[in-house]
Amino acid sequence: MDLKSCPECGGTGFLVEESGGIQVAKPCPCRIPDRATRLVERASIPLRYRKTCTFGMYKPDPAFPSQEDALTLARRYAEEYPALPEVANGLLFIGPCGVGKTHLAVSILQEVVVRKGMPALFVDLNDLYREIRASYGHAGNEETEYDILSPLVSADLLLIDEMGCVASPWAQDTLHYLISQRYTEQRPTLCTTNYLDEPVAGETRLEDRIGTRTRSRLMEMCQTVHIDGKDYRRR
Ligand SMILES: Nc1ncnc2c1ncn2[C@@H]1O[C@H](COP(=O)(O)OP(=O)(O)OP(=O)(O)O)[C@@H](O)[C@H]1O
Ligand SMILES: [Mg+2]
Ligand SMILES: [Zn+2]
Repeated sequence: MDLKSCPECGGTGFLVEESGGIQVAKPCPCRIPDRATRLVERASIPLRYRKTCTFGMYKPDPAFPSQEDALTLARRYAEEYPALPEVANGLLFIGPCGVGKTHLAVSILQEVVVRKGMPALFVDLNDLYREIRASYGHAGNEETEYDILSPLVSADLLLIDEMGCVASPWAQDTLHYLISQRYTEQRPTLCTTNYLDEPVAGETRLEDRIGTRTRSRLMEMCQTVHIDGKDYRRR
């Protein structure tokens, strides 16, 4: 509800109550976001994607039929969620820059969160690595690596964006921990990556970016969705 229109608190956002002879101010229920709003906030979807990434706004390029196929598949996934197959209950979007991998994956997340009212979580791997590195060397009450990773491990539905963006042994280990934990619990995971399994000569394979053990688990965890096309950002 709009604060100004709240008849309970008159728009102040607080209710003043008597308690043991003294007046105490309590937050008015109008300030407490509803469940849907909380779920959207908790999903950590960046604002730029929240506004633009919906199925309706994805316009497949007729010159690249894989885009229409990917849209159909992503739509069906969101419709069926959470009734998913036990094996390959996730999706791995593979393709070059700007073809709509993140767009479609976020569209699924938004459907699940907004329409179905179920929790889900977005994480950009670049940001995650940065956050973990920043947590090192801070003694005291700073978040530890474990604190940062555990919500991602336990999320009902997780979108890992930009898989393979960093290929250092440390980055691979961190990703492997996350993937293997979710693998063990058969938790559905959506992923996007620019790296192909069999790229043209001179480019790095996905397996070499994320590590053999992680790629192997993803084979079982995710159905692969190849999208090709031109970079939509340059159109
Ligand atoms: N077919 C499309 N119809 C409408 N918008 C699109 C389409 N494809 C991409 N976009 C838009 O173009 C931008 C880039 O798309 P997106 O972020 O999904 O690319 P990506 O495949 O994840 O690329 P990258 O590998 O660089 O992360 C986004 O703003 C997205 O909403
Ligand atoms: Mg992307
Ligand atoms: Zn109020």
